[in-house]
Amino acid sequence: MITPQERFALACFAKNIWKHGVQQDALIIDGGCYIGASTVALAEGLKRSDLPESERHGRIWSYDLFRTTPAMSEHYLKGSGLKAGDSFRAIFERNVSNYADYISVQAGDIQLAPAPSKAIAVLFLDILWSWDCTVFVGRNFYPRLEADHSLLVHQDFVYPFYPWVILSVGQLTDFFAFAYNVEYSSVVFDVTKRIRERDIDDPRNIPLPAALRIYDTLIDRLEGWHQGAVALGKALYLASLNRIAEARQLIDEIAVKFRNEALVMQYVDSIRLYCDSAVSQGKPVPLDQGVGI
Ligand SMILES: C[S@@+](CC[C@H](N)C(=O)[O-])C[C@H]1O[C@@H](n2cnc3c(N)ncnc32)[C@H](O)[C@@H]1O
Repeated sequence: MITPQERFALACFAKNIWKHGVQQDALIIDGGCYIGASTVALAEGLKRSDLPESERHGRIWSYDLFRTTPAMSEHYLKGSGLKAGDSFRAIFERNVSNYADYISVQAGDIQLAPAPSKAIAVLFLDILWSWDCTVFVGRNFYPRLEADHSLLVHQDFVYPFYPWVILSVGQLTDFFAFAYNVEYSSVVFDVTKRIRERDIDDPRNIPLPAALRIYDTLIDRLEGWHQGAVALGKALYLASLNRIAEARQLIDEIAVKFRNEALVMQYVDSIRLYCDSAVSQGKPVPLDQGVGI
């Protein structure tokens, strides 16, 4: 589920982060390891790092529900024999077997699993399927990041369907600086200031004008099709607040402007359908109700 560029970037961070002042016993977090692609990328980098072999052990904490969703059983894990609800942990274990000593598996809901006990060197997040989970991770993981040394990587950033990712980071511009967009979806952030638990507000409470400003600032910061994908996220966010006319107008503008960008157009129909269904049902379905079911 990650691109070759993302795989390369994760390996690079896990290899080199130790030379840049981070605590030498800090952890690497793979939040949402699925069947292991991101864990393997991080482990490959860690193996090439200067850390002694014994100090690599248990260094990567991989979190996942390991629970097959209907979409996984119908598409991504088709042919595995797994049905919705089954555990896919055995596939993960097989895929990461060359690096088993490096990995500490945290199975189950991240909101109930052990939170990191040490500083976090690299926090890779591909797990934020809801507003609640985003607030939880913000309060329990972000304070373990070290200012000027750690990295935060959001895999689902240039992606229209998770407004909580965009808005929660947009609330924290005093603490995170946009560093780099890794094709296709990941964005890497530098940590500019230590975060405390009390700095994390629920992004559902952001007043609409401020939320739209967060989107607009980010869209300006991105380039090409990435702008269109995040602009569609803004439209979907408006639709989720039942502002269907504004959402539809924005979708129409984006569909014209990015008509030759397949990576933008791939999302348009489903966001239009979301608007249609909100109108026919009288209200929009909360966006996090549709994830992972
Ligand atoms: C897009 S996949 C991750 C892909 C993975 N990083 C890779 O490189 O292939 C997202 C994962 O997050 C997990 N997940 C979602 N919500 C979770 C939660 N609350 N606790 C633990 N895992 C969760 C899902 O089970 C899923 O495997």
